Amino acid sequence: MRALDPRLAVIPERLKGVSRVVVFCSGKGGVGKTLLSSLAALVAARRGARVGLLDLDFNGPSSHVVLGSAPPPREDRGVVPPEVAGVKLMSLALLAGEAPLPLRGADATNALIELLAVTRWGDLDLLVVDAPPGTGDELLDALRLLKRAETLVVTTPSKLSLAVVARLVRLLREVGAPVLGLVENMGRGGAEAAAAEWGVRYLGWVPYDPAIEEALGNPEKLLATQAAAKLEEALARAGVLKAR
Ligand SMILES: Nc1ncnc2c1ncn2[C@@H]1O[C@H](COP(=O)(O)OP(=O)(O)OP(=O)(O)O)[C@@H](O)[C@H]1O
Ligand SMILES: [Mg+2]
Repeated sequence: MRALDPRLAVIPERLKGVSRVVVFCSGKGGVGKTLLSSLAALVAARRGARVGLLDLDFNGPSSHVVLGSAPPPREDRGVVPPEVAGVKLMSLALLAGEAPLPLRGADATNALIELLAVTRWGDLDLLVVDAPPGTGDELLDALRLLKRAETLVVTTPSKLSLAVVARLVRLLREVGAPVLGLVENMGRGGAEAAAAEWGVRYLGWVPYDPAIEEALGNPEKLLATQAAAKLEEALARAGVLKAR
């Protein structure tokens, strides 16, 4: 990251009206970061919060697929994110269309800085972030640039996922990113015990919900799923949603 990049000074300005940033991360691919972060944004919006959703998975942006058709962003002294079901959505996919996105290393960092520097979120109670995969530079850059970001760690019940997530939790501690807790997705298994072992809060589990696939792209249907209801409970435990 270049220290003298003038865009770096703009980013805090752009995020000035954002009360809270929560990054959904996992280290492991395919565990449900995108689905749960998008659902979290929808659930918070339904509760009346002013919500944004930022897709930072530049190689496979897909939050827009979960939320459904979003109009293109509007340019007005920056880029104004379109709103879908009460959620302001920003993703490279909305800017790049169907073009392939072979972003790596410095290009990915550059795209991240650019996206954060141009997006006009306005006033938000909550900005939900779908983290880039892995525990590499892309995640660390995002945490560095989103200064007040808290994290919510997603895992499946599988040992394969838990082993990767254990490492992520250590990394998050090392870089000083607050961990709100662990959400176990697609079933219930060893995550509660693992969370206790790591000294992380277990926020609950979300079942594998066969209704999800058909509901993708339809916020109303997504909000009616059992997965959404269980995630809502976990978010309330995390203190991300205001108690009703
Ligand atoms: N609780 C669930 N019930 C049913 N399907 C689910 C559930 N959670 C996730 N899925 C499905 O599993 C697949 C992977 O989920 P998702 O894309 O959200 O994972 P991811 O962690 O974002 O993956 P990547 O690391 O590739 O970005 C998707 O098809 C999603 O719809
Ligand atoms: Mg994803």
